[in-house]
Amino acid sequence: MSLANRSLTAIDDLSNEEIEAIFFLADEMSDSIREQTEVCRGKLMASLFFEPSTRTRLSFEAAMHRLGGNVISAVDIGATSLAKGESIADMAKVIGSYADIIVIRHPWEGAARVVADYAGVPVINAGDGSHEHPTQTLCDLYTLKKERKTIKGLTIALWGDLKHGRTIHSLAYALARFGATIHFRPGPGLELPEHVIKKLTTEYTGRLEKYDKLDGALKGKLLPLDAIYITPSVPHQLANIPDVSVQVELKTGLDALYVTRLQKERFSTTAEGKELKDSYPVVDKKLLEEKEFKETIVMHPLPRVDELAHEIDADPRSMYFKQAERGVPARMALVALVLGDRKVDIAKPKAPPTPKIDYPVYKRDSGVRCHNPSCVSTQATETKYIKPEFKIVDLKPLTLRCIYCEHEVHPPYIASLEWHEGKIDTKKYHSADSRWVEKIRPDNLIIFDSEKEAQAQGFKPSHYATGKE
Ligand code: NCD
Repeated sequence: MSLANRSLTAIDDLSNEEIEAIFFLADEMSDSIREQTEVCRGKLMASLFFEPSTRTRLSFEAAMHRLGGNVISAVDIGATSLAKGESIADMAKVIGSYADIIVIRHPWEGAARVVADYAGVPVINAGDGSHEHPTQTLCDLYTLKKERKTIKGLTIALWGDLKHGRTIHSLAYALARFGATIHFRPGPGLELPEHVIKKLTTEYTGRLEKYDKLDGALKGKLLPLDAIYITPSVPHQLANIPDVSVQVELKTGLDALYVTRLQKERFSTTAEGKELKDSYPVVDKKLLEEKEFKETIVMHPLPRVDELAHEIDADPRSMYFKQAERGVPARMALVALVLGDRKVDIAKPKAPPTPKIDYPVYKRDSGVRCHNPSCVSTQATETKYIKPEFKIVDLKPLTLRCIYCEHEVHPPYIASLEWHEGKIDTKKYHSADSRWVEKIRPDNLIIFDSEKEAQAQGFKPSHYATGKE
């Protein structure tokens, strides 16, 4: 399998072996970073950053220049035709006809996926709202690999705004896949979203436990009591992979502490953000004196605000500036591979990959829509061509996962496309809690957000809609 011509919109677009192959090339390129100027000569990158960025944009652009390619860029929605009401699909088609690769950061969740669907050239997600930031995860894993030699078996704490942090979401999936144990240490009210937890426990067969099982100085003192952690359950296919790399020396304590800032731009009111800011956990010298942190590397995707004290910058455990620096070779390797200008051997999986769950797909013009106001599929300019699309991830209760932002909805009403004998008076809708949810074939399911919607489509309530039977 080659990476040429592939888009990267979510970390799951890459297998563990492909990630390792990117690191192999990144190592080679970082050893001779000034000697790569023929690799992508003549190629053009479109760098579209519709949210603030320093590291991601400049490291992608630096990577392309170091590879000998060129860059065109747009950094402000207000200065593009998106501000005139153009859809991102139209923008993608046009920019895809100018450039060989598109790197996009956008506030809408799922935006990069839509751009990838329409651009006709590889698209790299540089952050889509609170959803994912897969190339930051590459930089994070690369640093873990460099500092700890292996990822499997490490214990890593994710700290801060786990709710809105896109770096957290991509990293949590990757760590689970590589077989690390993750401690979630959210700021108050900033726990990991339900849909991320669900994916970790179903797709990655992780096991979730409450924190209060843990002992030590941290318990209750520095951590919110409702923090949780996840370990790959045993036996787990990932856990069975023979580890050929160096043994992890650290037997207790944390291998890495991954700190994130409060994502204040994701709050609807400044008052809410202000309140959380005051109770936001801070990593400082005193905290790092705790036994658990003795050999812990401190990471942060940056920018930092107040959550990481400057006093620890000179501490050898602090790794965040190195982590940012490694973003250039990591992105050089990714871009060169995706453009097909470099090839690397990608190892065969050491164990069969965890089989992807083949959820039935629900896609209709009308009926249930995603409820996430930041989802690309709910934006006025995009609903003209995007059909809502979901994976049916559960029947009891009926749970749909939006394919764009991955938020879940629990719609209350269902009907079948094949009503009994085609007679109009058998065209009925039912409660999604009734047994009909299992009787109607997924291909025939019609799912509604409300009774009004079902009735507008000519359906009448069955006894199962009113809960009488
Ligand atoms: C992160 C982002 O944009 O999500 N920054 C980055 O890309 N290095 C983290 C953040 O902004 O907090």
